Amino acid sequence: MKVLVVYYSMYGHTHHMAEAVAEGAKEVDGAEVEMRRVPETLPEGVLRRMRALEAQKAFAHIPICGVDELASADAIIFGTPTRFGNMCGQMRQFLDATGQLWAKGALVGKVGSVFASSATQHGGQESTILSFHITLLHHGMIVVGLPYRFQGQMRIDEVTGGSPYGASTIAGGEGERQPSENELAAARFQGKHVAMIVYKLTK
Ligand SMILES: Cc1cc2nc3c(=O)[nH]c(=O)nc-3n(C[C@H](O)[C@H](O)[C@H](O)COP(=O)(O)O)c2cc1C
Repeated sequence: MKVLVVYYSMYGHTHHMAEAVAEGAKEVDGAEVEMRRVPETLPEGVLRRMRALEAQKAFAHIPICGVDELASADAIIFGTPTRFGNMCGQMRQFLDATGQLWAKGALVGKVGSVFASSATQHGGQESTILSFHITLLHHGMIVVGLPYRFQGQMRIDEVTGGSPYGASTIAGGEGERQPSENELAAARFQGKHVAMIVYKLTK
């Protein structure tokens, strides 16, 4: 039972969420969980100006995902920072390289799920996740979100990400906020929830 956590992160917020998603998935017996990054597409000079190079060193050890790896997984949980209310270009480019997999129906029946990070509370976390689901549905994947059984998404006593569509974190305009305990708990819940569904489907 193989669960892949495939993500892009520029400053580390999505990376921290990905670690929590992987932790949650590993709680399910028999789950073999791997983390993968999608390839960078921005030139080094641009990344330097965006002050991303230093931040990205912290997760440079996570292997880069090859598109063919997707076919060997039972579930793929994708993570992306929001870009203008959508997934980031790095993730879009990665997904646009999966045409051969689509042609073979290689992802049909696999479980797919999405988590996100955005700078602001209402800057498009939900639209990022929901619009990402379209690609998963074109691949014939079974889309899984974050059920309200994760009660942390009901909280109004603190600023928090998380919706029925998937876990999310709010990074702040300068990336100054790190994922909160509640957001990490949502990510862990989503990872475990996906792995449990795969368990039920494959046993
Ligand atoms: C080109 C660009 C577009 C962005 N668009 C949005 C946006 O629409 N809404 C928002 O809240 N944040 C937006 N952000 C902020 C990122 O979502 C934020 O930096 C990211 O979630 C941090 O996650 P990371 O550390 O994993 O990269 C944008 C950032 C960039 C560079």
